[in-house]
Amino acid sequence: MKEYIINGGRMLEGTVDIRGAKNSILPLLAGSILTDEIIVLHDCPHISDVDSMINILEGLGSKIIRKDRDIIVDSSGVCNSQIPSSLAKELRSSIFLLGSLLSRLKKAKVAYPGGCDIGLRPIDIHIAGLRELNIDIQEQGGFIICNSQNAKSADVVLDLPSVGATENLMMSSVFIKGKTVIRNCAKEPEIVDLQKFLNAMGAKIRGAGTSVIVVEGVDKLHGVEYTPIPDRIVAGTYLIATAMCGGNVELRNVNSEHISSLISKLSKTTCKVYVKNDRIIIKSKGRQKSLDCIETMYYPGFPTDLQSQIMAMQTVSRGTSVIVENIFETRFKTASELKKLGADITIKGRVAVVKGVKQLVGSEVIATDLRGGASLVLAGLVADGETIVKDIHHIDRGYEDMSLDLSALGANIRRT
Ligand code: UD1
Repeated sequence: MKEYIINGGRMLEGTVDIRGAKNSILPLLAGSILTDEIIVLHDCPHISDVDSMINILEGLGSKIIRKDRDIIVDSSGVCNSQIPSSLAKELRSSIFLLGSLLSRLKKAKVAYPGGCDIGLRPIDIHIAGLRELNIDIQEQGGFIICNSQNAKSADVVLDLPSVGATENLMMSSVFIKGKTVIRNCAKEPEIVDLQKFLNAMGAKIRGAGTSVIVVEGVDKLHGVEYTPIPDRIVAGTYLIATAMCGGNVELRNVNSEHISSLISKLSKTTCKVYVKNDRIIIKSKGRQKSLDCIETMYYPGFPTDLQSQIMAMQTVSRGTSVIVENIFETRFKTASELKKLGADITIKGRVAVVKGVKQLVGSEVIATDLRGGASLVLAGLVADGETIVKDIHHIDRGYEDMSLDLSALGANIRRT
């Protein structure tokens, strides 16, 4: 098992280039099977969630070449409509393939998806939405079996603005004649990116970024070269790391608007954050004043994917802060690991109260999910002495190699 060994206490100084967003690339890859022409995606990081999606696509019959950070997909040979549980359990985003497979082959048999263990993560909204499109769905023996021969456009209202369900419905309706309307949809930047990508392939979709998306069915989509948006969560993780450690860091290739909720929180601390076009510079003297309350929300609210990292920051801030997790009910699992480093955290249901301590002390901790794992690395960067973060395969799902980026900034971290 791989691990990070960190010796805390160094300030961060330098520049980091942010790569394409995992949460955009995964649905874009799912969308690549909507055409039998070539799709090229640029700036895709080498992370294991992307590898898992590529494995799934190859199982469906796509041919994929990786050249540095480009992914070239030829889906002309896609003929298999089944995703076995051995592949689906690796990645929750395998569920997006339900929509694109139905559009491409009119049928799909997909095992229930896996992904981070951060709560129930049901797929009822996906299923209800697809049923509204007159898609026949049976749930049998751990599989979702669908047939879309009789699919019809419809006006669909989602119970919750689920990111995955919105993306699935966009992809399942691209070829359905007439106008499909998706209401109460998610507004995340990754949804806007998917709309841009599909429209560049010839789709007719409008409204992404608002709560109503309209998809007008077209007959065919064509190949395209596309660069996904930069990863706002990776960018946010490094901003928080610098706020905690102190230092002067420039992030290149970021869209500050996508993390305005974090920038607004950081502006309430003593750090200085400067935005210049696609760059963000953060200057910090280290230990911050606590943020009173952080509550995760759908976009443009504070992202659940940065909740663990901001919790790590609060463990060493001056004062007490309250964190409310509104999206995923068990996303406080990492708190027990942070406590091993000396953090003072009390949890009741969806609320965590974090009393900042002067100093964390290095210890051995275990990553249990992607973002929680990243937060343990951040805590290790400020802890006194050596911190060992185990099970970092969770972190590899979404970060290319944190040790390379952070050691380039002067941190004492290595991967074994
Ligand atoms: C996506 C992101 C993930 C992020 C999450 C919320 C990707 C690949 N992953 O996940 O990193 O943390 O958005 O911003 O883009 N829900 C239901 N029924 C459903 C679907 C969702 O009840 O059928 C609930 C979930 O339990 C959760 C909420 O809706 O409470 C939001 O989930 P959703 O937006 O679907 O998250 P994902 O698309 O899985």
